[in-house]
Amino acid sequence: MTMSNRSTLTQYLIEQRRRFPSASGDLNGLILDVALACKEIARIVAFGELGQAASRTEAAKVVGGNVNVQGEVQKPLDVVSNDIFMRRNEWGGYLAGMASEEMDDVSPIPESFPRGKYLLVFDPLDGSSNIDVNVSVGSIFSILRAPDEVASGQRPLTEADFLQTGAVQVAAGYALYGPTTMFVLTVGSGVAGFTLNPNLGEFMLTHPDIRVAEDTHEFAINASNSRFWEPPVKRYVDECLAGSTGPRGRDFNMRWIASMVAEAHRILMRGGVFMYPRDLKDPSKPGRLRLLYEANPIGFIMEQAGGRASTGRQPMLGVKPTALHQRIGLVFGSKNEVERIERYHREPSSRESVTPLFVERSLFRD
Ligand code: AHG
Ligand code: MN
Ligand code: MN
Repeated sequence: MTMSNRSTLTQYLIEQRRRFPSASGDLNGLILDVALACKEIARIVAFGELGQAASRTEAAKVVGGNVNVQGEVQKPLDVVSNDIFMRRNEWGGYLAGMASEEMDDVSPIPESFPRGKYLLVFDPLDGSSNIDVNVSVGSIFSILRAPDEVASGQRPLTEADFLQTGAVQVAAGYALYGPTTMFVLTVGSGVAGFTLNPNLGEFMLTHPDIRVAEDTHEFAINASNSRFWEPPVKRYVDECLAGSTGPRGRDFNMRWIASMVAEAHRILMRGGVFMYPRDLKDPSKPGRLRLLYEANPIGFIMEQAGGRASTGRQPMLGVKPTALHQRIGLVFGSKNEVERIERYHREPSSRESVTPLFVERSLFRD
């Protein structure tokens, strides 16, 4: 193999930092620790059943099936991945605290380590129901600024410190454990994608400026929830399904991986729209996905790539969080489709807005 002239993740981060001569380098250090955690998780995921012996010891506490604060059964790999994120990021002096899908409460940095000025929020393993069937999973993270009093140790960390709007995220990204391991990152100046070179153990810059196509003919939604959908979502999907015979006048294609991180990656690569909207299934759960460690980081990446992320009713990044594990309706991807779905939410919901012929033929008619 010839020497590659591609940048590494480290080089990319150093070059980004040159834009801010006074920056301390803490953010870079933090992102590299996150990337190391992701490389470690990638190896464990890649060993699959062969790696079970190794992961079983660490995950002993969940054998028998623990349930996390969301009421979901934790898989051993959810717990192992959470642990890896914690261990790789707690020591560096960059963080004042962490929070994760797999931990009920926020986690302050142990006394034995220095505190730093950032907060890290993560979904250590997204799509973990796909682990057993060898389909892509990933990790998602968001980096926030810690309040000064917390960074300096004047007061303890609280849940409220994490309840920041997505618009003020400092950085966000995800790792995708697919046929290749990728790391996709925004530090607020576009989106860059890196592919893990397994020979070097380095993430190499392979996708320098990712842009989401503004138009698409591909949508992703869990259609088994259709009877719970609100009218604007029904209308949108019905119109897509009607294809060239309906008001859209062209055919659409559908995908559902059940790994939001993998769907986000597909959409970054070739456009598309993803919906896990607020629905009427369970009034205590306004949506399936979580604001702080799923919707906001993916939303930040989408917006930075020229796409759009929304609740359907308002831009995702403008939502003021009210709880650490808050769920929310999420729509993201190609700008023109997301804007159309937002428009359908604004327009009065009436069956007349859909052509009678089309309602007749709808697969998802109620
Ligand atoms: P997690 O594995 O972190 O709990 O998240 C899974 C999420 C998301 O990745 C995916 O889009 C969605 O759940 C799948 O939901 P359905 O089971 O309703 O398809
Ligand atoms: Mn998830
Ligand atoms: Mn998860």
